[in-house]
Amino acid sequence: MIKNDLFLRALRGETVDRPPVWMMRQAGRYLPEFMEIKKKYDFFTRCRTPELASEITVQPIRRYGMDAAILFSDILVIPQAMNIEVEMKPDFGPYLPNPVRDQKGVDNVIIPDVNTELGYVMEAIKATKEKLNDEIPLIGFAGSPWTILCYVVQGQGSKNFDKAKEFCFTNPKAAHQLLQKITNTTIAYLKAKVMSGVNAVQVFDSWGGMLSPTDYQEFSWRYIQQIIDALKDFAPVIAFGKGCWFALNEMSKSGAAALGVDWTCSARNARYLSGGNITLQGNFDPSRLLSPPAEIKKMVHQMIREFGKDKYIVNLGHGILPNIPLENAKAFVDAVKEYKV
Ligand code: CP3
Repeated sequence: MIKNDLFLRALRGETVDRPPVWMMRQAGRYLPEFMEIKKKYDFFTRCRTPELASEITVQPIRRYGMDAAILFSDILVIPQAMNIEVEMKPDFGPYLPNPVRDQKGVDNVIIPDVNTELGYVMEAIKATKEKLNDEIPLIGFAGSPWTILCYVVQGQGSKNFDKAKEFCFTNPKAAHQLLQKITNTTIAYLKAKVMSGVNAVQVFDSWGGMLSPTDYQEFSWRYIQQIIDALKDFAPVIAFGKGCWFALNEMSKSGAAALGVDWTCSARNARYLSGGNITLQGNFDPSRLLSPPAEIKKMVHQMIREFGKDKYIVNLGHGILPNIPLENAKAFVDAVKEYKV
């Protein structure tokens, strides 16, 4: 039994005294104790060494006491395991030297045995569960197939992922084959993560909002739906689509336990579009963590009043930024813990 199960109760829609809180990308980025580890080990060494990955995962919990931990890893370990080279360049981000741009490229992509190729993730989960000692739940995650395709085809981060879109719109057959391969791998991967001990999974569709509502259905949502269908009987699934408020209604009928919302959608609109019954997660503007701590606390309390304390998980609307002062992150978490109806 997990001692603090607020997060899991919110995912089940149960009544709670206060909503649970965690922050997307809370492991890493802004913590000095993380920067110490980062100085010594490159990115994929940190991901592949269970002792390091589990340590980085629990660092923010020790400091701030969030109600859930998210495993330190990256969405791009999936393409790496699928025979696509992925580098993480310091001060640049992901770099894929041989992006997939044609049918031949898609044919070369393999569906790996996740327990061998990504066994290090499963070991990191086990090591983290030991460190967490059943105090709080652990979240596992994957990128959405569309968001993974964005990197695999573009070859790096981008403001508009133009090459990824060009590939989908000029060669939809190959694009769908690639998306299906990523989907099959992701389903096996998330199931293995649940078997290894994660208590919930989140699918990050960070670039879903790059697509029109119609294209979103075709190139992103239908693959996320496959993942939800395959996982929902094993663990609660959170679907987070940045910029995807237009799809909230359909998402609310998907079998997902909760939906992530970014800060461009008001609580009222998010509740309205998602039908008022499903648990929502979000949606503090990550840049608002630059406001003074007292103001952050006021805004967080206002956000909880707007979403309502039940069927709600307090979070940011996207990942925490690297330049957030430590006391401001603390104010965010404390504000939730201090919340009284
Ligand atoms: O909460 C956590 O921090 C858990 C670990 C986590 C990382 N990446 C570690 C990481 C998670 C959940 C991710 C998800 C991820 N990775 C997403 C989806 C969420 C989102 O923010 O949209 C995406 C799009 C990526 C791809 C990625 N990885 C990018 C664009 C970058 C470079 C920019 C940056 O700093 O985020 C990464 C590198 C990365 N992944 C770092 C960390 C801590 C920073 C590099 C480093 O530590 O050396």
